[in-house]
Amino acid sequence: MASSASLNISSMLLFSLFVSSIMAASAGSFYQDFDLTWGDHRAKILDGGKLLTLSLDKASGSGFQSKKEYLFGRIDMQLKLVSGNSAGTVTAYYLSSQGPTHDEIDFEFLGNLSGDPYILHTNVFTQGKGNREQQFYLWFDPTENFHTYSIIWNPQNIIFLADNIPIREFKNQESIGVPFPKSQPMRIYSSLWNADDWATRGGLVKIDWSKAPFTAFYRNFNAAACMWFHGSSSCASKFTSPVSNIAWQNQGLDAKSRRKLQWVQKNYMIYNYCSDMKRFPEGLPPECRH
Ligand SMILES: *[C@@H]1O[C@H](CO)[C@@H](O)[C@H](O)[C@H]1NC(C)=O
Repeated sequence: MASSASLNISSMLLFSLFVSSIMAASAGSFYQDFDLTWGDHRAKILDGGKLLTLSLDKASGSGFQSKKEYLFGRIDMQLKLVSGNSAGTVTAYYLSSQGPTHDEIDFEFLGNLSGDPYILHTNVFTQGKGNREQQFYLWFDPTENFHTYSIIWNPQNIIFLADNIPIREFKNQESIGVPFPKSQPMRIYSSLWNADDWATRGGLVKIDWSKAPFTAFYRNFNAAACMWFHGSSSCASKFTSPVSNIAWQNQGLDAKSRRKLQWVQKNYMIYNYCSDMKRFPEGLPPECRH
């Protein structure tokens, strides 16, 4: 008895040491985890690495990318989007591999006139092919405070979350011939750019440059993931994100999370490629037919 109790205590100690070392490694600074890739001074790391800002003016937008590549995991970032009249601006936040047959998991935030709702546009590319858009309104104002946007990605499932509420699920349906992202490591990318040729009401509303520069804010990046870096891999496989009890390795959503997903899809989804019969006169894509 005594020996098994002490064994339990020491393994718990070991486990919490393990968890805290992963948390230390993953809750790093923007200096450590990201490179500012374009837009010169328009992309900035501030507050000793705790805050990152992107801005857009008439001459250019800006962007950053992760130093590391990831293959499966849970990736969280808090964003506060361009406030006021942001019509025509797009803040893209996504995971992507490279090359003509790349995979990609996209969040894009389409700005709007003051007081009008942002659209959260999502897409999944597999083997270079996308056309899987779902769009949502949000149940909060994404410009007033920081909110957490997450991607859970494992061999069975991709789940998009906003403030820990699942908004979209893309299941592995290789069994019916739909490719699934599972072998190409991806980087995290974000950019703020001018998309006023399509973003707001199909390009009808143009950017009001008198309001420039437009700025988006990032903080609290957290990756519980498998990483590829300088040719070697390491996985934080035991890690459960501190903001969630959804472990990223889980095959699917539990009943409670599934009810939340249904709530979002029923009340906030404004476009779903899987119900766009006009767009696919030859029949909906196979993953829509299950
Ligand atoms: C902007 O607001 C209009 C009016 O409420 C709405 O129809 C549209 O979906 C909103 N979002 C974008 C990106 O256009």
